[in-house]
Amino acid sequence: MTASASSMARTPVADALTAEAPVAHIRICGWVRTRRDAKGFSFLEINDGSCLANIQCIVDEALPDFAVIKDVNTGAAVDMRGELVESPGKGQKWEVRAAALTLLGGADAEAYPLQKKRHSDEFLRTIAHLRARTNKFGAAFRIRSEAAYAIHEFFRERGFFHVHTPILTGSDCEGAGEMFRVTTLPASGTGVPPSGNRFEADFFGKECNLTVSGQLEAEALAMGLGKVYTFGPTFRAENSNPARHAAEFWMIEPEFAFADLNDDMELAEAMTRTVVTRVLERCAADIELFDRFVDNGLIERLRTIAGQSFARVSYREAIELLKTCGKTFDYPVSFGLDLQTEHERYLAEEHFGKPVIVYDYPKSIKAFYMRLNDDNETVAAMDVLVPRIGELIGGSQREERLDVLEARIREMGQNPDDYWWYLDLRRFGSVPHAGFGLGFERLLMLLTGIANIRDVVPFPRTPGNLEF
Ligand code: 4AD
Ligand code: MG
Repeated sequence: MTASASSMARTPVADALTAEAPVAHIRICGWVRTRRDAKGFSFLEINDGSCLANIQCIVDEALPDFAVIKDVNTGAAVDMRGELVESPGKGQKWEVRAAALTLLGGADAEAYPLQKKRHSDEFLRTIAHLRARTNKFGAAFRIRSEAAYAIHEFFRERGFFHVHTPILTGSDCEGAGEMFRVTTLPASGTGVPPSGNRFEADFFGKECNLTVSGQLEAEALAMGLGKVYTFGPTFRAENSNPARHAAEFWMIEPEFAFADLNDDMELAEAMTRTVVTRVLERCAADIELFDRFVDNGLIERLRTIAGQSFARVSYREAIELLKTCGKTFDYPVSFGLDLQTEHERYLAEEHFGKPVIVYDYPKSIKAFYMRLNDDNETVAAMDVLVPRIGELIGGSQREERLDVLEARIREMGQNPDDYWWYLDLRRFGSVPHAGFGLGFERLLMLLTGIANIRDVVPFPRTPGNLEF
């Protein structure tokens, strides 16, 4: 390849396919999806990940580079220069007539695992390092990127600041028993003092875990910045329902001052509907793929979410609905018991046929920081439940009254001293405030119709699975 050829900027396939007019000199780079040899020509379908569609390239056997074509197999990477011309063929407006073809990286036709056929999700999980090259996973990860962008955009438009909260944490605020310990002590246990503080010799001189949530720190930041949100990885050693729970997942946690439960519900609904609207608009081809091949009815469902206001019911009303609906559930329904996925899905899918926000849960099943209601029995909590998934978002108004908060911490069998700085926020300029946590992977399951959380994360971490 000449210097001038390599210095020519490459055009993403997405841009080439939407060109307004023919282009005399164009450079396309990508991976070969298929090669078809005809008399005097070879046809290449090339994909570079910029969009779902491939671009067709025609390589004339008269080209000086034509000798390499025998090694240009499915999976190979190529760098091509040529002319973008109107395609006489059906199905595409433009194609590339090659003038020069370079094979960047070959792919052995026998050994390459992604031959042109449909592969099962289970098989593709075993080759997660290659699956981004399939239509389905390319689409899923493009949607993931667009959804993240739309979330940042939404909060920015509403005046929220993006903050970073710690990943290593010394407090065990919510996830007792579900945390991953981080240590530099030798695995054998040598170096651990036989008595006293067993973490004394450890890196931080105290127990350290991976965070389960950035909420408590986000609250502190909201008490200075007013409106903040986190977007970071969180870790939970949960060993149940592997289709919906990942050990490492991403959470968006807005937290805002001078706000109550109603403001919280309004924010959660507006965020969900805005993100769904924008992703539908911006990822139309990718979403259509999921609607056709993964989850018929997906687009209809997403339009309902975007276009209609969410239902709202109190936990008490939800329990009544579930008790009297005439359906038998595997898990019992009664005031004081947490809603299970089957209950959540019944409410969103069958009863309301759209997302529903359940609020005012019994205090006994919720965290200490949720604001106690006047009935002394429920807290100002809310969960957003959506069809197919169940819980998408969990949040609450926070307890801003020092004495009530201290009492709740004690009631939960914990020591207020461990929360000294969190309690300080209630000692100095405490204000009503609220927030929630959106599970980013759950949102992606909603957006794509993908039923297993392992298939919306590029490299999933689930019990027994730490490959790649
Ligand atoms: O309901 P959760 O546990 O709430 C919190 O962590 C609060 N600190 C949030 C807040 O108020 N700032 O988790 C929030 C969301 C859930 O609704 C769910 O979507 C998701 O996080 N989630 C998980 N997603 C994937 N895998 C897991 N193991 C998850 N656990 C929770
Ligand atoms: Mg929850």
